[in-house]
Amino acid sequence: MAYNKNSPFNELPNLPPIGFTESPEILRHLARAYRHLGELNGLCASLPDPQLLINTIVLQESKDSSAIENIVTTQDELYKAATEESTANHAAKEVLSYREALYVGLEKMKAQQNLLLTNTMVEIVQTIKQNKSGIRNTPGTALKNAINGEVIFTPPCCEDVLREKLSALEQFINDTDLSAVDPLVKMAFIHYQFEAIHPFADGNGRTGRIINALYLVQQELLSQPVLYLSSYIIRYKTEYYQLLRSLTEKDNWNDWIMYILTALIETTQLTTKKIKALLSIKEDYEIKMKEVLGSSFSHELLQLMFTLPYLKIELLVNREIAHRQTASTWLKKLTAAGIVKPQKIGRTTYYVNYKLMELMISN
Ligand SMILES: Nc1ncnc2c1ncn2[C@@H]1O[C@H](COP(=O)(O)OP(=O)(O)OP(=O)(O)O)[C@@H](O)[C@H]1O
Ligand SMILES: [Mg+2]
Repeated sequence: MAYNKNSPFNELPNLPPIGFTESPEILRHLARAYRHLGELNGLCASLPDPQLLINTIVLQESKDSSAIENIVTTQDELYKAATEESTANHAAKEVLSYREALYVGLEKMKAQQNLLLTNTMVEIVQTIKQNKSGIRNTPGTALKNAINGEVIFTPPCCEDVLREKLSALEQFINDTDLSAVDPLVKMAFIHYQFEAIHPFADGNGRTGRIINALYLVQQELLSQPVLYLSSYIIRYKTEYYQLLRSLTEKDNWNDWIMYILTALIETTQLTTKKIKALLSIKEDYEIKMKEVLGSSFSHELLQLMFTLPYLKIELLVNREIAHRQTASTWLKKLTAAGIVKPQKIGRTTYYVNYKLMELMISN
């Protein structure tokens, strides 16, 4: 039966695509992608406190991945929200939920013998959306052109069909037969398949992008989920949609895989650069803070400045890093030395690690 974008695509074939072979350009890109992934992974392994810097990178990916869905928050709003979630705006909260979803997914995968299962995908989308959404069980979901409302793609329907296709996908993902498909090509396959199944009413794009990161951890290509594809997808968003579409309509795997590999090559290099820059700012801060604070230098304070660049006195008190008086003295001294910049918002004064903020804004 011919493909019809207006009716549910229940004929979506399972993976792997029949008769697919890697073209020479894909093979060349694969070699480069592995080299850059290896470099990034080595750097992450050599970090003195990986969790700290990685959390910042993951937050950036969360911000960009959410921005694809037009959930837009500024860096300032986001980091203020990270310090004090109760006063955060909706978009910033959703970005924080995305980061939480990534970690929830990672924990769940590790707890289930490193398998990436449907129930984990459901938990991821529920954490992103902060609700109890599940696999779609009513018809009517279609992807439409935002401008003219024209239907672009109608995903399969309904719950039993979706569960069947997810279960086949789950098997494909967790199949350990290494001779079958190259892992990075497999990631590109999986991402298309998940988006085409489109199991949820909303949040499919973001869940699919989290799955990519978890998959690379599962495959031991990254020890931490520092995949940062979304900055690339934002830049080439029209192409992202077009390629998904031309896969369904014309089986064009080659261009899709090239797109994903190019995104990987560019963003792994960018992430390596960012982590190195972060490290160097942190080392520089450590030296300066030791000068300014002398014997009262606190390693915990330094760590916190790089986890939550919008500091405030209460935060240091609440985390039992210092008493109010000490915290206040520290932040005043750091302000006088130009290490942090005070910023008054309402009645709260934040002390901003502005060098870190500048780095996050830059590309
Ligand atoms: N033609 C298509 N075929 C299959 N999947 C598509 C197609 N066009 C877009 N998509 C996928 O659908 C996602 C959007 O779905 P949905 O709104 O459920 O996810 P989201 O996470 O809320 O949004 P977004 O992905 O925009 O952040 C896109 O990100 C893309 O991955
Ligand atoms: Mg959406």
